Amino acid sequence: MAVQTPFKRALGAIPFKPVYCDARVALYHADCLDVLGRISPGPLTAIVSDPPYGINYVRSDNPVKILGDDRPFDPSHLLRFRCVLFGATHYCQRIPPGGSWMVWDKRCPHVPGKASCKPGPCHANDNGDYEDIWASFHTHRTVFRHLWNGFCRASEKGVKRIHPTQKPVLLMGWLIERAVPVGGLVIDPYAGSCSTMIAARLSGRYAIGVEADPRHIAPAIARLRNAPA
Ligand SMILES: C[S@@+](CC[C@H](N)C(=O)[O-])C[C@H]1O[C@@H](n2cnc3c(N)ncnc32)[C@H](O)[C@@H]1O
Repeated sequence: MAVQTPFKRALGAIPFKPVYCDARVALYHADCLDVLGRISPGPLTAIVSDPPYGINYVRSDNPVKILGDDRPFDPSHLLRFRCVLFGATHYCQRIPPGGSWMVWDKRCPHVPGKASCKPGPCHANDNGDYEDIWASFHTHRTVFRHLWNGFCRASEKGVKRIHPTQKPVLLMGWLIERAVPVGGLVIDPYAGSCSTMIAARLSGRYAIGVEADPRHIAPAIARLRNAPA
């Protein structure tokens, strides 16, 4: 009898249709609570996600509010899975002790002597110059340096962003490599623009994404269709 991958098993357990599905990734337009309850945790499955932190964030150049960001975030429905979560300093009183912290440094590199690099911050990002990332398991405490400030970006240069808090695909791939082996399943219950899913597909993993806000669904489907696989 053929052994089912965690991806196929999860798709079989979710009783509604994805809005996008290919051989490696599926996106659901739903509340993540309705999908997560159907998926069983396992050593080949991890959540890699950037949830609403509960900080009422609004980008200065893209004033679209993030669904759910107007109330404190409680990650308890995620913690039965192996997890990699952004922004956990904002809800650190609700995560268990232990695990590991990583940092995404999104500043431009400081070049002494360069005219634009005066003492003090080179570029001030809207929401801080770095982001904290918590893993529920032991991993190297490390820094990912990758410029990401408006149009100044180390990757995806000239590509229009489709979501106010869109993460670089390269960053998500870097995290996914720490979370699940090749062939494993990545779940992003707060998928937004689907950067996590694109990174999972590129790195030989499978992914299930869930997004509740109807405004993000059509752009996310178009991005999944057009992204390199
Ligand atoms: C911080 S954004 C994630 C952005 C994503 N990391 C990206 O690269 O585009 C959080 C997303 O979660 C979605 N969301 C909020 N509550 C949700 C829920 N209960 N179920 C599914 N999605 C939800 C929001 O609409 C938003 O798009």
